[in-house]
Amino acid sequence: MEMAAVDAVALRVWPRTEKSAAREALAELRAVGACVTFAAGDLSEPFSVKASDLLKPANREEAELLEQLDLRRLPQHVAIIMDGNGRWAQRRHLPRVAGHRAGVKAARQVIESCARLRLPCLTLYAFSLENWRRPLAEVDFLMRLLREYLKREMPSIHKNNIRFLVIGRSAQLPDAVRNDLADAMRLTARNTGMKLVVALNYGGRAELADAFNAMLDHVRQNGLTAFRADEQSISDYLYTAGLPDPDLLIRTSGEMRVSNFLLWQIAYAEIYVTEDLWPDFSRAHLLRALVDFQKRERRYGGLGATRGRSATSARAATAGGRADAARD
Ligand code: FPP
Repeated sequence: MEMAAVDAVALRVWPRTEKSAAREALAELRAVGACVTFAAGDLSEPFSVKASDLLKPANREEAELLEQLDLRRLPQHVAIIMDGNGRWAQRRHLPRVAGHRAGVKAARQVIESCARLRLPCLTLYAFSLENWRRPLAEVDFLMRLLREYLKREMPSIHKNNIRFLVIGRSAQLPDAVRNDLADAMRLTARNTGMKLVVALNYGGRAELADAFNAMLDHVRQNGLTAFRADEQSISDYLYTAGLPDPDLLIRTSGEMRVSNFLLWQIAYAEIYVTEDLWPDFSRAHLLRALVDFQKRERRYGGLGATRGRSATSARAATAGGRADAARD
């Protein structure tokens, strides 16, 4: 049967609908890659999906955290500064590269868990513009590790309907890495599930400079003498154009810095810092961060009671450069 492409289907489950029929319909929608979301309050028990239906808890702590997690209030975009690979290795008297290998394992588990929870977007800071200052052998190792990761994981990323994206000055990466990244993006280009964004050769200030230059080029080429930038037009020229801004920024290894990461986009993000080093960041750590996020009161510069007034609508009120009202 030929299927028409649709953007959204509204499915209302009536209280007397058979539970198994409702579950079957949801499973079929998910199997064809539909992103199933629930309108708050629309689905009453026993049909609502619980976090533990999507992610099987491996231990009691995970089970308790999953119990606390409200799938209707998950962040739209989680961004992670993965820090502490070197220290993790050092504490074990291992070479730094062993920490990076262990870091890949942690990344794999976090990616899988976020995709299972149907998070719309996850961004991982894998290599900054400043990371070129590391010894050549370590940089070479990181590039090889990335290629190894892409080769090994891309089939399962694709099978799980995840879309792979890269942000950063990727033109300056070695040719072999660029080719593998391009293949991964091409392979997953039509996937409709979670967007997995890897920041490579990335710097937040460089991103802003690139955005302003691209905007200036556009203005000059089209003779737009009356053009004025606003928050939306700046966002549209960033590497992350079209993605929601991160609402949760996680950083491991206890450092209280944003390290030139997504400077524009994290304006309203909740920040979660854990002392644990990245290779130790497990599924339970991720769930802790998500549960903590759901306990925060997000004010966007207002006076609380944010229900019914989203970040987007709050930001819309400040569009056109009137930034004064938006400060916390
Ligand atoms: C920080 O540890 C981590 C990095 C420099 C990035 C490397 C990340 C990975 C290998 C994770 C894998 C990610 C993907 C997408 C495959 P550090 O070396 O700065 O640690 P330190 O601060 O303790 O020295």
